[in-house]
Amino acid sequence: MRVLVIGGGGREHALAWKLAQSDRVSRVFVAPGNGGTALDKRLENIDITEPAALRAWALQQKISLTVVGPEGPLAAGVVDEFRAHGLRIFGPTRAAAQLESSKAFSKAFMQRHKIPTAEYESFTEAAPAHAYVDAKGVPIVVKADGLAAGKGVVVAMTAAEAHEAIDFMLEGDRFGVTHNEDQDGKAAPRVVIEEFLHGEEASFMVLCDGRNVVALATSQDHKRLQDGDAGPNTGGMGAYSPAPVVTATVHARAMREVILPAIRGMERDGIPYTGFLYAGLMIDAEGHVKTLEFNCRMGDPETQPILLRLKSDLFEVLWHATDGTLDTVELQWDRRTALGVVMAADGYPLAPRKGDRIMGIPPEAPDAVVFQAGTALHDGELRTSGGRVLCVTALADNVRLAQQRAYEVACRIQFEGAQYRRDIGFRGMPGARQGT
Ligand code: AMP
Ligand code: GLY
Repeated sequence: MRVLVIGGGGREHALAWKLAQSDRVSRVFVAPGNGGTALDKRLENIDITEPAALRAWALQQKISLTVVGPEGPLAAGVVDEFRAHGLRIFGPTRAAAQLESSKAFSKAFMQRHKIPTAEYESFTEAAPAHAYVDAKGVPIVVKADGLAAGKGVVVAMTAAEAHEAIDFMLEGDRFGVTHNEDQDGKAAPRVVIEEFLHGEEASFMVLCDGRNVVALATSQDHKRLQDGDAGPNTGGMGAYSPAPVVTATVHARAMREVILPAIRGMERDGIPYTGFLYAGLMIDAEGHVKTLEFNCRMGDPETQPILLRLKSDLFEVLWHATDGTLDTVELQWDRRTALGVVMAADGYPLAPRKGDRIMGIPPEAPDAVVFQAGTALHDGELRTSGGRVLCVTALADNVRLAQQRAYEVACRIQFEGAQYRRDIGFRGMPGARQGT
């Protein structure tokens, strides 16, 4: 069978890499892909991104299954477009993808279906937003409503920061935020302001066929740029799986209080949810769970360590997921820990530098795979082309050994200005949990 993966980051490299291992898959295409998917002989890059053009290409190429990586094409309706032409595709429809593409939609959804989340209000006018901050005090969290590639959230420790964030987000396109439309169809800047939550975060992802749910292995990512969780928020500087903070009790709670009510809620609202669903969880010291956000896709970089641990045939699993038969699937996982270190370009996240030559990527080993993201081939040479360049992912008996192995590989890879954290996985180390 011929398979298409839509997207071009590290998550899509990992998805394509895993799908290509299936005996039932003859070819994996990646649109648009990156330098890593271009170099892998089992994969082929396709330079098309627009949904209707992709659909026409997929029909002509007799693509049996399409998997969507990023939120952009989902919010643009690529799933609706493919399905309308009888093509099998795994992902949520445009309407269902609002769970991620609109913070206001997702907060109202959580409230309606009693899914635990931070207390909030949403605003289109600055004055009441400022007044809300003054009434609630700090710390407080200000979020732009539309898709913002991980840049639309300000955790304000001072009132001045919160007020500045409100003006900034309501003023217009400064963040590169896609504004959602109001009832009149006009793009309206909107902010959600919510209570600051304490605890430890984890990424909780499931597959859903509209009705049945299968949980993926747990994981935790590191959103801040620098060691010790300092510096600006990024898309994610590293991740590991499993995440010890998600104990069996927390897992059961997350399924019962967050995931199942979300799937049932979407069904009840007449927007059945199909695709990966990612709940960003905040887990407090007592193991209570609140939902920070929903994403309608897998996490990046969480996907890279998760798929390194997946023993089941991903193609078979996604076939069931698009058949509505996920209730027959039980995923098999490598019991070891996988850990991925993101190597980012100089200047990331604000202004990543591009075009630098990358050297020293070792061939794939059973316990270490370098997934590529912001890379491109220029005249046969691998060069940087985006913020997060690589995710060096390793598998070992525990988180410390997986970390050691990943850094052993990372430190041999060179490109000008490479930056990466040296502490990925620190929360998963034995003893890290005591007192937190
Ligand atoms: P989001 O895109 O909504 O997940 O927000 C990005 C990051 O901001 C999260 O991963 C958290 O680290 C932080 N954050 C978001 N909402 C809150 C909150 N209510 N309390 C504390 N931190 C938050
Ligand atoms: N790593 C966080 C995300 O993919 O949203």
